[in-house]
Amino acid sequence: MRYGPIIGAGALFSLACSWAALVMAPQLQLGDLSPAPIPNTPDFHPAARPGLAAQGAEVYRSLGCYQCHTRAVRQDQLLFGARLNGIGPKAINLEAAGSGKTNLVNLKLLIALAKARPDLGLAKVELPPTLAADTNAVAAFAQFTTHLTLLKHADHKAGIVRTNSATVNELAGKLPAEILAKVGPEEAERVVKLLSDSGAKAELVIYNLGPDIARGWGARRSVARDYLNDAPVLLGSVRVGPDLASIGTRAPEKFAAPWKFATSNTATELEHHLLVHLYNPRLLAPASTCPSASYLFDKVKPEVRYAGEPLVVAKESPPVFPKHNAHALVAYLLTQRNDVSLPEAPVPSVAKSATAKPAAPADTNAPSKP
Ligand code: HEC
Repeated sequence: MRYGPIIGAGALFSLACSWAALVMAPQLQLGDLSPAPIPNTPDFHPAARPGLAAQGAEVYRSLGCYQCHTRAVRQDQLLFGARLNGIGPKAINLEAAGSGKTNLVNLKLLIALAKARPDLGLAKVELPPTLAADTNAVAAFAQFTTHLTLLKHADHKAGIVRTNSATVNELAGKLPAEILAKVGPEEAERVVKLLSDSGAKAELVIYNLGPDIARGWGARRSVARDYLNDAPVLLGSVRVGPDLASIGTRAPEKFAAPWKFATSNTATELEHHLLVHLYNPRLLAPASTCPSASYLFDKVKPEVRYAGEPLVVAKESPPVFPKHNAHALVAYLLTQRNDVSLPEAPVPSVAKSATAKPAAPADTNAPSKP
């Protein structure tokens, strides 16, 4: 028994280690997760489910939908890019070589673009005779010529050969323009800085990549925060049918049986589509193996309880009447969304059409200066 205390201490130590690894570490990582505010709205993600959707979660569970459907979008990669949104205020009305037409051009931006995209040429721009007396324009143009010489020198040293098939002028001419796509964060940040320093409006964009994202099953990967309000969390493990993590925001063309919105009232149409799917998936996808939940519908108008709106499932058949549970299940499906950007899983920003007047391409036939 001489070693009793040591063995006791050892046992206590190993128990403490497993407690730290199995209980404390997950608590530190996930325990203080809270719903994240959705930018520009008073809402939070994930939303505390309203009554009907909460009941729908129970219906989803009781019908075993998770046996064929997962609720977790996977993502392989996160890449970055740079987007040009505006040419900035420091633009001068310049003439496209040989065309006699003038257009707003930001000279510093042209150089920045040429630095960002060594694969593109730089078409000539000229100072129109009408601006010959404008000291500001003349000075800016002289600076541009100096920068261009430096750029050519740098190109020469780096062995960069610029083609004249596509030019940076064209890139700056159609906004918003994707200047770089799907590169590492440092490269994208460098280009955004280059462009912003030239006075232009540029932003960092992200690309979520992976087969699930490509299928349109979600805008980003699912993370622990998405399931804060779920108990139990029905992740599902088998994908006989499509993932449902973001079915509430799925584009109609991304359904297993693609369809189209017929009106601008998309929320109602999506709801209708899901109800018809529940009633009989074969009406929408003839070869579907998704089980029909027609027991959630009355075929004749119920007389005793409130009947609600009739549902037209097919032109030739009489309408059916969804029961409360059918509406609840659809309400639950509609709350399934992962299009909200979270710090741990950002969502790509969509390009807004630019407000600044774009620099029209300077004469693109002019040979780029090698
Ligand atoms: C036997 C496996 C199985 C079960 C159980 C199942 N589904 Fe499906 N589900 C599928 C398959 C396969 C598809 C794809 C074909 C189609 O669109 O009908 C599908 C498609 C869907 C779609 C359309 C999704 C899309 O992107 O096209 C929805 C919504 C859906 N199921 C909901 C449910 C709900 C709700 C339940 C529970 C009541 C359920 N499913 C139970 C197999 C299943």
